[in-house]
Amino acid sequence: MINRRQFLYLTGAGAVNLLNMNGWPFTSAGIASSEKDEFFPDLELSLTATPSEVQIFPGQPTTVWQYTGQVIKGDSNSLQHLEQSYLGPIIRVRQHQKVRIHFKNNLPARSIVHWHGLHVPAKMDGHPMYVIHTGETFTYEFEVLNRAGTYWYHPHPHGRTGHQVYGGLAGLFLVSDAEEEKLNLPSDRQDIPLVIQDRAFNPDNQLIYLPRGMHDSMTGMLGDSICVNGKPDFKLSVSTSAYRLRILNGSNSRIYKLAWSDGTPLTVIATDGGLLEKPIQKKYVVLGPAERVELWADFSKYPVGTSLELVSKYFEAAMHERAMGPRRGMMGRIDLPNGAPFSVLKIDVTRRAKGIRSLPQRLSAIERYQPQDTDNADNPRQFSFFMRHMQGLINGRTFRMQEVAADERIRLNSTELWELANDDRPMGMMMMPMPHPVHLHGKQFQVIERSGVLHSGYVDEGWKDTVLLMPGERAKIVTHFTDYAGLFLYHCHILEHGDMGMMRNYLVS
Ligand code: C2O
Ligand code: CU
Ligand code: CU
Repeated sequence: MINRRQFLYLTGAGAVNLLNMNGWPFTSAGIASSEKDEFFPDLELSLTATPSEVQIFPGQPTTVWQYTGQVIKGDSNSLQHLEQSYLGPIIRVRQHQKVRIHFKNNLPARSIVHWHGLHVPAKMDGHPMYVIHTGETFTYEFEVLNRAGTYWYHPHPHGRTGHQVYGGLAGLFLVSDAEEEKLNLPSDRQDIPLVIQDRAFNPDNQLIYLPRGMHDSMTGMLGDSICVNGKPDFKLSVSTSAYRLRILNGSNSRIYKLAWSDGTPLTVIATDGGLLEKPIQKKYVVLGPAERVELWADFSKYPVGTSLELVSKYFEAAMHERAMGPRRGMMGRIDLPNGAPFSVLKIDVTRRAKGIRSLPQRLSAIERYQPQDTDNADNPRQFSFFMRHMQGLINGRTFRMQEVAADERIRLNSTELWELANDDRPMGMMMMPMPHPVHLHGKQFQVIERSGVLHSGYVDEGWKDTVLLMPGERAKIVTHFTDYAGLFLYHCHILEHGDMGMMRNYLVS
């Protein structure tokens, strides 16, 4: 199960200081035990990252980087391939299934896969220290412990994550469980994954990344074509029935303020970590990069022939985008700053459906944490996120591959209160405050308090793995570090910010 490269990491100079740390997983729960206890997968997949071409527009195909997959053992429906899309296959698993995934890197670059939102051992989480080179394979083995929900996977090589995700490398990882099954939610053709991403294309239909260099790295890459499941001008034809729409903001940096064009409130049933306790109604939902939201969309009130849009509404984002006024686009494209309004997708109600499905009033049970349930209630860990001198910083520190500071060491089996703060401040024309969607690897958490900027579009009710913080905003989160010792990342999920160093390790031991 250990390939040559992983072996080098374990024995090479980089590992030396880590081996001296107490509780480093490789010497405790990690490799030693997984070699002993044989792992019998219920599902075995291969996932290959490879340069490819897709027909996005008429004319010249677009060169992308893409995940392709195959089921080696287990249910052949575990992989769903999306036609003419650069997105990777949708992986569908059940809670408690044991999966083995052979990731093969056929890219002309180093890469590694991260399972965003999943609770897996540190070794299986796709930390950038495990990157593999062209032609190499990394084998993942883990049991799916997460609740039913909409998770996803994407590359995580340090400094190149933004580039690789933008190039097309991403896919959904959907988990089902018994609790969800009992609800009899819309399924099959009524259960629709919607991955929203913005891209910029040149006149030859090729992707453009960071055309303005450092400026685009600071704001994060923003494209003027809004793609859904890899396609611009996405249209969905529906019947007059209820749908489950699983929305992932898979964009590098764009924030969406989602709403129905006819003013109908959104009915939210789930977030990053699965179902809410009960459905909630929102006039709009603000969704930062990597966040997910699931909607219950009932089209039975519309006559056949109705057209409707899911839109992103205007909001105030980075101030300089407005201050500088509309800009001439590069290479003939229009600049679409964060906060600009646009249509995300169009829905046509095309057929009558028989019967009605009613929305369950109770979806799940969630045990809510209070600050007093934590081990550090009177002394929350503070993490301050800001950009300085073209670098992304957390508590003033930038990313170092295996570095862990004293305030990043967590005791196994503790319940912790963390306070995350977006402390970006304007510093001249080049340094305007930016939003920072903060993501923790390995854990789902609860957002128990917000301060600073209060946005009614946040859905903080359920389990989360990413929390959007606008400039000046802070959030208190609680999480419980029950199992899986080891090194995990936390970072800003504006991918360019993470690549610029707004990423650190925390060590559970
Ligand atoms: Cu989607 Cu390190 O994360
Ligand atoms: Cu993640
Ligand atoms: Cu950021």
